[in-house]
Amino acid sequence: MLAAVDVPVVAAGGLVSAGDVAGVLAAGAVAVQLGTAFLLADEAGSSPVHRAALQSPEFTETVVTRAFSGRYARGLRNRFIVEHDAQAPLGYPEIHYLTSPVRKASAAAGDPQATNVWAGTGWRQARTGTVAEIMTGLAPV
Ligand SMILES: Cc1cc2nc3c(=O)[nH]c(=O)nc-3n(C[C@H](O)[C@H](O)[C@H](O)COP(=O)(O)O)c2cc1C
Repeated sequence: MLAAVDVPVVAAGGLVSAGDVAGVLAAGAVAVQLGTAFLLADEAGSSPVHRAALQSPEFTETVVTRAFSGRYARGLRNRFIVEHDAQAPLGYPEIHYLTSPVRKASAAAGDPQATNVWAGTGWRQARTGTVAEIMTGLAPV
């Protein structure tokens, strides 16, 4: 069981396959919440540079960083994170506004190394297609 107390549990975080979904439902979750699994969906608002980065072998891990916005979020570890994460302050939204022009210019240039590429730990298994197709692939068999 996921919870010792008798409350409904919504499982979230790192779920990207039918096996993942089936596993948490079998463990007692009443529902699942998935984000990263839909980043490559036709209907998703992900930018072209975001989509390309998610499918690029140049990225090998995600990290939790406050470097882009001043509060913690998980993304693909790129040059901006490597160069700024250690000294980045907790300062949302000031850091968000400070880094915004750099992030926009990087994205406009098609460069994923100086913009935020948000992604959960399961990004490698994110699938393309319509949301309906992705949902069908995630349904427990
Ligand atoms: C593009 C994107 C933006 C997100 N923005 C937020 C956010 O503003 N605040 C937050 O708490 N979580 C945010 N999340 C994380 C979601 O809470 C997370 O995706 C969800 O818990 C499911 O985890 P998963 O992505 O591993 O499936 C974001 C995730 C993505 C992919």
